[in-house]
Amino acid sequence: MTTPQSIFSPCHGVVPLRPRMESWMAELMQNRPRLDALIDQFGAPLNIQSLDPFRRNISQLTDCVADYDLPFLPMFARKANKCLSYVQAARDLGIGIDTASHNEVEQCLAQGVPGNRIVCTAAVKDRALMALCVNGGVTVILDNEDELELLEDVAIGPAKPVSVGLRLNGFERDGTKLYSRFGFPLTEVPALADRISNSEHLRLDGLHFHLNGYSPEDRIVAILQTLPLIRKINDDSTVPFFLDIGGGIPMNYLDDAAEWDAWEAELDRALAGDRAPITQHNDGLGRKSEGAGKVDSYPVAQSLVKEDWMRCILDHVADGQTVAAHLRDAHISLRCEPGRSLLDGCGITLARVAFCKRDSAGSPVIGVQMNRTQSRSGFAEFALDPLMVPAAGPRKEAIEGYLAGTYCTESEWLTRRKMSFPEGVKVGDLMVFPNTAGYLMHFLESRSHQFPLAQNVFVIEGDTEYVDLDGIDAR
Ligand SMILES: Cc1ncc(COP(=O)(O)O)c(C=O)c1O
Repeated sequence: MTTPQSIFSPCHGVVPLRPRMESWMAELMQNRPRLDALIDQFGAPLNIQSLDPFRRNISQLTDCVADYDLPFLPMFARKANKCLSYVQAARDLGIGIDTASHNEVEQCLAQGVPGNRIVCTAAVKDRALMALCVNGGVTVILDNEDELELLEDVAIGPAKPVSVGLRLNGFERDGTKLYSRFGFPLTEVPALADRISNSEHLRLDGLHFHLNGYSPEDRIVAILQTLPLIRKINDDSTVPFFLDIGGGIPMNYLDDAAEWDAWEAELDRALAGDRAPITQHNDGLGRKSEGAGKVDSYPVAQSLVKEDWMRCILDHVADGQTVAAHLRDAHISLRCEPGRSLLDGCGITLARVAFCKRDSAGSPVIGVQMNRTQSRSGFAEFALDPLMVPAAGPRKEAIEGYLAGTYCTESEWLTRRKMSFPEGVKVGDLMVFPNTAGYLMHFLESRSHQFPLAQNVFVIEGDTEYVDLDGIDAR
């Protein structure tokens, strides 16, 4: 189903950044009675999600890598979304899970995900988390020597050796080291591998990296610089050994990626004083002027995404053969840890308009009953247009203004981009933040002021009556 353009009419950026919508989202947006029923039952703000796109994203990724005849295990990075429904779907599809905390590991094991399909990449691992991984058969990705020492201590006891991976850093691209605070320097790996192979309690099953950003070229150099290490430390290539290339598979949030360039050009014009501001207080959101500074948001318009990005890596030719062929020759089982890209199309966040007023400068302020941590990741700005589902009854005059949230600070804006409401905006209208399942709904959500967290419900495509409250909220 193509998305009817009418759903974008009631609210859009003064310079639009129109979101890519899944059909289930567009259908719901045109069914105000259903949205009202969901809010009556589960409250607002509300995270509405669907597993259908998640399953599709997984099969597209696994189908793509299957073309290369490589053993492959994607491990869903569940830090990107806390819901148990994704864990259950990943378990049922036979993929793995990348976990980042004690609770995440414990919940995955309780959901019946086999330990050998769970990796723990938590940034800080204490004794209790190590013990949980050891007892659950979870692969521990070690980041530093203190962790190795702790695991050596915790691992004494169980009959089976504990599965271990080493996180790497220090890759070089064009003579420059890729910075990371995580992992061991490549040069230390042979000695660490020796230490692990001399331990009766630990077993080195693979190597891992997770790189900042989304560059396929960075991943290519990292793979090519890891391969000689693997040959050095894994002399028996018949024993399964993994190379886990982490997450960062990019995705595209915009319907028309060209809108980003147009938006940035208008931002530059506004910063230069050549047009009216398109952001709060004419804030550059990290951008200083034309060509200088970067907007602090996820890059919402990317041309090389998902399977094409993976193919770009695997098809790259080095020393006369492709990266995929190098991996096959070394009998490596490829792993990756996608979070955001597997959640593409899986969620929206819904909230009520509570008031409409003017600030001391006379600008319209639209008060929305949710806070900015409920649609925000590590980036400062949500660079995508929210949509609006109007309440019944007469409309007001057209306005342009800013969306404010529930926290009591002057900085509490749901987006600092100026929104246009051609048919006005009033109490009872619903704001919809699109494509929020990956990081945006949970990564930073906070309970400041003791507001309850948004609940999480799942719907299915093509059945407007079905709804299921996620197990994470039923705890
Ligand atoms: C170790 C590790 N793996 C995987 C991911 C998931 O990355 P993404 O959601 O960009 O795919 C992250 C994200 O921070 C990470 O730190």
